[in-house]
Amino acid sequence: MRDGTTAIRVRPGVYDDLVALTGIYNHYVVHTPVTFDIAPVDVDARRAWLDAHPATGRHRLLVAEEAGTVLGYATSGPFRDKQAYETSVETSVYLAPGHTGRGLGGLLYDALFEALATEDVHRAYAGITQPNAASMRLHERFGFRPAGVMEQVGRKFGAFWDVAWLEKRLGRPEPGR
Ligand SMILES: CC(C)(COP(=O)(O)OP(=O)(O)OC[C@H]1O[C@@H](n2cnc3c(N)ncnc32)[C@H](O)[C@@H]1OP(=O)(O)O)[C@@H](O)C(=O)NCCC(=O)NCCS
Repeated sequence: MRDGTTAIRVRPGVYDDLVALTGIYNHYVVHTPVTFDIAPVDVDARRAWLDAHPATGRHRLLVAEEAGTVLGYATSGPFRDKQAYETSVETSVYLAPGHTGRGLGGLLYDALFEALATEDVHRAYAGITQPNAASMRLHERFGFRPAGVMEQVGRKFGAFWDVAWLEKRLGRPEPGR
């Protein structure tokens, strides 16, 4: 993607990104209910998270970078731990504050779902704390459909929050379903 004169590149995340990625995530931890972590995570703890998202397989981490600055990232991770869930992933995308509204979320999801197209993934799920119109729209655009709303499932900043779950089919078409 070209925005002005600078190229935006999407690539797998690496250790050198950890400080920037942690900073982006912690912004949303501290200031918003979009994630239900309440305390900021530290960079060292994020190493295991990065290791769990290698450059191949179901669980990916893709980073958008412009002139050496990390602008955001998208991930696919385990949906639930038990083994029969392994063909399902939970996806998410976080952009640095100040870089929303430029289409970067779509750029990252394009790359993430292109990467997953050749993997053994059957369903992707996204849990979106309500309200979040931009995230709902982004996920709908990528073929996610409503799978149910969990009402007041989390408490943060002294309030209870609803989470809408969205589901996307991946892989081969499913006749009759
Ligand atoms: C959610 C997020 C990833 C979306 O990425 P983005 O690059 O900002 O999204 P875009 O600018 O491409 O907008 C996505 C769509 O939402 C629409 N949109 C944006 N803000 C909106 C709003 N306030 N109300 C309604 N629609 C809105 C856009 O018009 C666009 O629609 P289109 O696909 O029909 O063109 C990004 O805003 C973000 O990082 N937000 C904070 C973290 C977050 O909420 N992450 C998601 C956790 S589930």
